[in-house]
Amino acid sequence: DVPVTVRLTVNDVAQEARVDVRTSLLDYLRENLRLTGTKKGCDHGQCGACTVHVNGRRVNSCLSLVAMHEGDSITTIEGLGTPDRLHPLQAAFVAHDGLQCGYCTSGQIMSAAALLTEPCGRTDADVKEAMSGNICRCGAYSNIVAAIRQVRD
Ligand code: FES
Repeated sequence: DVPVTVRLTVNDVAQEARVDVRTSLLDYLRENLRLTGTKKGCDHGQCGACTVHVNGRRVNSCLSLVAMHEGDSITTIEGLGTPDRLHPLQAAFVAHDGLQCGYCTSGQIMSAAALLTEPCGRTDADVKEAMSGNICRCGAYSNIVAAIRQVRD
């Protein structure tokens, strides 16, 4: 092990991470901070289940090392909304049945929340392209697109 110390902010709380230099941001969030809303699907950048925001931009946290995030601001699904105060996207996913098993949902919503701040075309195809890094094995795609469009349009 090669220990490193990294100061970063997670969901507006300052953290001092003392981790092995090889620790992924995903494992740090789940194992060290117990923020288990962020999911591990493939662990190699293929599925999007681990999507979080780094300084407002979406990132696959399985592909990123904590050691790279000195001074960064990380937002996870726990920082986006709460059960009592859902983010509009969370409410829209519920309203449109934008999930089945739910395993990909945190990543889908974090990706969609970042998409709202990015240049993106107006059609369903544009939204599908912008969300193409987030895989849903249940195939809830049409409802996911409907939920995103409700919030964005
Ligand atoms: Fe990170 Fe699949 S767990 S992309």
